[in-house]
Amino acid sequence: MEIAVAGGTGIAGSEVVRVAQQRGHRVRVLTRGNGVDVHSGEGLDDALSGADTVIDVLSTSTQSARVSTEFFTGTTSHLLAAGRRVGVGHHLALSIVGVDRAPHGYYAGKLAQEQAVQSGQVRWTIQRATQFHDFASQIFRNAAIGPVHPAVRMRTQPVSIVEVATRLVDLAEAGPSGRVPDIAGPREEQLADMIRAWAEHIGHRGWMPSLSLPGAFGRAIRDGRILPGEDADLGTVTFADWLNAQPRG
Ligand SMILES: NC(=O)c1ccc[n+]([C@@H]2O[C@H](COP(=O)([O-])OP(=O)(O)OC[C@H]3O[C@@H](n4cnc5c(N)ncnc54)[C@H](OP(=O)(O)O)[C@@H]3O)[C@@H](O)[C@H]2O)c1
Repeated sequence: MEIAVAGGTGIAGSEVVRVAQQRGHRVRVLTRGNGVDVHSGEGLDDALSGADTVIDVLSTSTQSARVSTEFFTGTTSHLLAAGRRVGVGHHLALSIVGVDRAPHGYYAGKLAQEQAVQSGQVRWTIQRATQFHDFASQIFRNAAIGPVHPAVRMRTQPVSIVEVATRLVDLAEAGPSGRVPDIAGPREEQLADMIRAWAEHIGHRGWMPSLSLPGAFGRAIRDGRILPGEDADLGTVTFADWLNAQPRG
């Protein structure tokens, strides 16, 4: 199968590319570094020509609802329009569990992306996943205030990126399936504990105060509103398994 991975150099995308190639699929990687700007549409028709399936694992770094919505609806409409022009049969998008249950700017864009996929003219699949295990290391890095790394309180059920990538390639092989059951990790964790465990793993010794994010989003993530429902499919790799496999120091 000929698979185009939009965002194929990202955290999720590089694993999707690896799994797809391992299964013998031919893979095109759509990123700006490869001369394809999905946001402007530049190079997209050529990049998608002859592809059977698009797996969309693009992302942008923003907390603004306006920027996120503009990015995800813009990239999705370009992928769908080019896909329709060149005969792509399946558009598969990765979204996030709870995007409709917690008010966050980035989530607003993901929800708009889901709506654009569902009303587009290419047959589709939407897979929602919980946070990846390395979410803890991202928050450790990105939420730092000078030398202080807050341990943000949030209930999460983190999932292995390898298991998500494997699921996405399974879905590409299965064909358009609509909204499929969410995928999550095997057990609930407290993000603050994950961040502290990550800090200890890499030898960080500083003070790490607990932090409750303010407002409705802070309440939503503390109250478990972005945890998976009972019908989610659960992976097997725990946060501790993942952490033990990461280099120390
Ligand atoms: N991280 C999580 O915990 C998590 C959990 C559940 C779902 N998700 C979803 O998974 C998806 C992937 O997230 P991620 O964390 O793997 O993203 P990421 O590491 O930030 O990667 C983003 C990718 O998008 C590409 N990209 C950005 N703008 C582009 C443009 N204009 N044209 C072409 N390529 C562009 C980047 O490549 P270039 O910059 O080189 O162009 C990169 O390959 C997102 O939709 C996210 O919402 C993430």
